[in-house]
Formats: sequence, C-alpha cells, structure tokens
Amino acid sequence: MSGFRVAIDGPAGSGKSTISSTIAKTLGWTHIDTGAMYRAVTLQAIELGIDLNDEAAYRFLETCHIHYDHDRIYIDDRDVTEAIRSDKVTRNVSLVSSFPYVRKMLVGLQQAAAKTTGNIIMDGRDIGTVVLPDAELKIFLTANVEERAKRRYAERVQKGKQEPMAQMIEEIVNRDRKDSTREASPLRQAEDAIVIDTTSLTIKDVVKKIIAFIEQKENVHGD
Ligand code: CDP
Repeated sequence: MSGFRVAIDGPAGSGKSTISSTIAKTLGWTHIDTGAMYRAVTLQAIELGIDLNDEAAYRFLETCHIHYDHDRIYIDDRDVTEAIRSDKVTRNVSLVSSFPYVRKMLVGLQQAAAKTTGNIIMDGRDIGTVVLPDAELKIFLTANVEERAKRRYAERVQKGKQEPMAQMIEEIVNRDRKDSTREASPLRQAEDAIVIDTTSLTIKDVVKKIIAFIEQKENVHGD
C-alpha cells in the first residue's frame, strides 16, 4: 500500500538530500536518496574493475543488492555510506547513471520501495518525471551555481579537504551538463512541480516551506 509520496528533484548542491532527510525525520517518514544508489553502483563497478563505458558489464546488478535505509547505503550487507562520496565515484557517477540498463534496474528498486512503504520522500533527478510521475507532491529545488559550489566547498572543508572554489564550480557545471543532456531520463523539472529557489534560503526555511505544502495537500486529499 503506498502512502503520501513526495518527489524532490534538482541539480547537484541544491540541498535535496539534506532537506529530504530532515523532512523525513521530522515527520517520521521514509527517505530514499536515489543519488546514493547511483553512487553505490558506481563504487561497485569501480571496485569490480569493469569497463565503465560498457553497458553490458553492469549485469553484475542482477546479483547484487543495493539498499538505502535510514540515511545509510548498503551494497549487499556492506555499509558504503562514506565510500560513495569519494572523488573517483563523483567523477564517474554521471557516466554510470546515463546507461538505460542501470536506470531500469534502480528505478525498479525505487518504485518497489515506494509501493511497500507508507509515506515516503524520494530525492534525485528523475523522481517527479519517471520514478513517481503520480507523486502527491513534486518539488524542484534550484540555487545558483556559485551558491551550490559554496555549499559543496563547505561540506568538503568539514571533511578536512580543501579544494579551490573554481574546481567546485567546474565540477558542478560539468555534472549539471551531463545530467541534463543525457538521453535517458535527463534532469528536468516535472510540469506539475513546485519550484523553490534555495539560493538565499536556509535549510530550515526550505524544510518549513515543503512541510507546509505537504500539510496543504494532505488536507485537500482529506487524509
Ligand atoms: O552530489 P549530489 O548530492 O548533488 O548528487 P547525488 O544526488 O548524490 O547524485 C549523484 C549523481 O547520480 C547525479 O549527478 C546523477 O548523475 C545521478 N543521479 C541520477 O541520474 N538520477 C537520480 N535519480 C539521482 C542521481
């Protein structure tokens, strides 16, 4: 039985994962970060040493279990939450997620999760358009490139890494370009999504706004 489904999409650094996770915790709902799933496939592909350009080599997905639960991501039973944030994974994830076969496998898992869980918030690039096209609420988060790069920079500094700002901007612009121009489910705003520009908003502001939208919709649906 599916409950209330919120789809949150947007480009790199728009705040999707942090915001979705905070809303889920506040409401006691399930959160799935689909970007973490694409990152896990990328990590596994790198570790297996397959040719990353060969779509057929991703058949390993038939026998491996990728699972997101309570802000942690697992490949089989191994917790790879930290490992999927490596530079090598970040550099290759847009390539890996451009393959229709990889997308078909992960979208299947994501749709199954939404069917078997109650209320859910899912964040990614194609949630409102492909994974949950009939979600009760769709949000598209944006922010200007400088602000998104600044957030990434702050995240890296927190992890003890310091990379030039110019490099952050380049990485974000590159990934946005690859994610928006690929053939299979490119990043794009669903027609019925509510757009929130987070450039000058705090996480708390955005969380509040989205919870207000959820409450509004729940009232309309009479839940
Ligand atoms: O770094 P950031 O948190 O912004 O990205 P992410 O959400 O971890 O997603 C990493 C990459 O996975 C994206 O750049 C996309 O290439 C891919 N992705 C996708 O293709 N479809 C999704 N639903 C989610 C992520």
